[in-house]
Amino acid sequence: MLKIFSSMLALLFVSLVVSAQPAQVSFDSASKVFRLDGGGSSYVFGVNARGELQQLYWGGRLGAADAFPAAKPMPGWASFDASYTNTPQEYAGWGGGLFMEPALKVTFPDGNRDLVLHYQSHAATTNGFEVVLKDISRPIYVTLHYAMDPGSGILARWATIENRGTDPAMVEQAAAASWALPAGPYTLNYLTGRWAGEWTLNQDPVLAGEHVIESRRGSTGHQANPWFALQAGEADEDHGEVWFGALAWSGSWRITVERDQLDGVRVTGGFNPFDFGYVLHPGMPLETPVFYGGYSAHGLGGASRLLHRFELEHVLPRASSAAGNAPGAEPMAPTPKLRPVIYNSWEATEFKVNEAGQMALAEKAAALGVDRFVMDDGWFGQRKDDHAGLGDWYVNQEKFPRGLRPLIDRIHALGMDFGLWVEPEMVNPDSDLYRSHPEWVLNFKGRPETQQRNQLVLNLARPDVRAYILAFLDKILTENDIAFLKWDYNRNWSEPGWDQVPPAEQKQVYVEYTKNLYGILAELRKLHPKVEIESCSGGGGRVDLGILKYVDEIWPSDNTDPFDRLTQQDGFTYAYTPQIMMAWVTDSPHWLNKRTTSLQYRMLSSMQGSLGIGANIDNWTPDEMAEAKRLIAAYKEVQSTIVQGDLYRLISPLGGSEFSASETVKADKSQGVVFAFIHSTQEVRGYPTLKLKGLDAAAEYKLSSIEGKARAGTPEVASGAWWMNHGLEMDEGFRGDFQAAAFRLDRK
Ligand code: GLA
Repeated sequence: MLKIFSSMLALLFVSLVVSAQPAQVSFDSASKVFRLDGGGSSYVFGVNARGELQQLYWGGRLGAADAFPAAKPMPGWASFDASYTNTPQEYAGWGGGLFMEPALKVTFPDGNRDLVLHYQSHAATTNGFEVVLKDISRPIYVTLHYAMDPGSGILARWATIENRGTDPAMVEQAAAASWALPAGPYTLNYLTGRWAGEWTLNQDPVLAGEHVIESRRGSTGHQANPWFALQAGEADEDHGEVWFGALAWSGSWRITVERDQLDGVRVTGGFNPFDFGYVLHPGMPLETPVFYGGYSAHGLGGASRLLHRFELEHVLPRASSAAGNAPGAEPMAPTPKLRPVIYNSWEATEFKVNEAGQMALAEKAAALGVDRFVMDDGWFGQRKDDHAGLGDWYVNQEKFPRGLRPLIDRIHALGMDFGLWVEPEMVNPDSDLYRSHPEWVLNFKGRPETQQRNQLVLNLARPDVRAYILAFLDKILTENDIAFLKWDYNRNWSEPGWDQVPPAEQKQVYVEYTKNLYGILAELRKLHPKVEIESCSGGGGRVDLGILKYVDEIWPSDNTDPFDRLTQQDGFTYAYTPQIMMAWVTDSPHWLNKRTTSLQYRMLSSMQGSLGIGANIDNWTPDEMAEAKRLIAAYKEVQSTIVQGDLYRLISPLGGSEFSASETVKADKSQGVVFAFIHSTQEVRGYPTLKLKGLDAAAEYKLSSIEGKARAGTPEVASGAWWMNHGLEMDEGFRGDFQAAAFRLDRK
């Protein structure tokens, strides 16, 4: 009776929601089918006759009146596979003969390891549902959270796992969600890399069995990124069905893509179960990260455009979240504010920073039109190189005898704001901090402390370490007028011991470390609402939708070679918006590849993201200064289109392509920006005509050059239809090695 009443209440609530935001979430109490609609997609699941929560549909948006019959479990297969394993469950417990990846695996103190989760109850929320599952006999409860973004149709899913019994239970595996797709074929797209070689797009057919992408490193990692996209059959950049997802977690994570014996595909993601263990004490729930999933009928390009918009509108901190929780704070800005054009001194000076040197660079940076001057590593403790100083966050007296104040004042007088590099989670054994707190590092008692870059990882799971880091960062930000922190993290874990807690709980370090990292970032942003933060981890080692709730930008790679950056930036944008993709112009020949490129090529490569200068501008000639100044000014005029517009990959730079080109179009279609690059012209081949995309066919657009020339006779003004169908042709002289051109189109 109570149950019927609660369903009726839920229905009533849903219909109230529906009247405000049409056909967004609904529950049919007769068929026990849940449905969520947003953007161009629908997501449907239901309670089957056994009581399991079964996925029914994920794909293009269905008609508002279309009804689903009740969920019907899949049959078993001969005597070897039970219906339980063949049925795509929303969140399957490991038990009952499950051979697919479980969402949850638990061991109870009496040795029982069987967990079968059945529907218990649900409640509707503004944009979704909270559905409660319970084990068939034990008091383990799982609340599944569903929140559908009405604009993009991207669905956020996560779980809260709770023990309502009296004895603790051990969670050995906990996913945020499992997603099911209809039978294939599919191509799995995923991003891999290494230091200085991040953001490689891999495209593999989904074969029978399991494909694992993961990090066991304690953080997101350069080697794989928690994002996937599954392309159906013939889908390509612009056409066809693509299902995609991204896990919001900066600790060890895992995503598995399984093709089962009946060719169904399931994707499960969450905490990495490797070396995982979480003691579920009664009354102390475990919350998983969020796993976002989305659908596009417009190919990989459509999928990345949806993700970019979602990140801009719903994930990244916005101007107003900076204004904070203060009473009377400004209403939320629709998108985050544009990144200031920065200068960073790292490649120019490395550790040799001092007041006079930084001031000289600042004068030059200001003359270029830079908005923010960032001092990198080397300013603190006894930091002369990477052997000492991490952990001692006081200003080095030899380098800055008067403190940071005079430098910051000068930078302000030059019309820029000031940013500072920190690496809060690390310690060098040669530091006062390590000498007084050797017990603060991740380590197993009596075992080696493996150093990488001469440094060890502080155990952020410890409350005293958390408090120390928050206190020193708060002090630096309180004592100095700092607009920005570049938050670095330059190694992965080894010996991840935490002997402060009982042995059974020590593996919780994977969860508690990351939650405390998020906690510190959130607290800092609250205490210093105007301060912006960049996530850097020796380049792109910590990029995911978890950290992106707390940081404004990303350092994608220590590799700033402008040619390498073209493929890296292309890979990055499959998952992440160009708004956060910092891109510095550095010196030539490049320190990594020894490649020589023109300043103009380096500028245009970096202008595809959020622009910065990282060269030793002390050595730039007046001509180079003038050229960079002109292009920085031209960039600022179109920056919002480039970094917050809709991105179209016109010619992919992948596979050693001779040419590459991209286009971004402002959301209201009033402006487009086109970049065109040549790797090496061969056999006098001319540049392909660029058939532009995403413009308003009926509107007139005026073409202007940012750099380079269009073919003689190209109309100055033509319709969107003309630019999209006839296309934009390059000047015949656009040939050679490492050449670049850029154009803007403005609606008349
Ligand atoms: C990492 C960063 C670099 C620089 C150095 C400083 O490698 O990615 O940009 O800040 O550390 O040590």
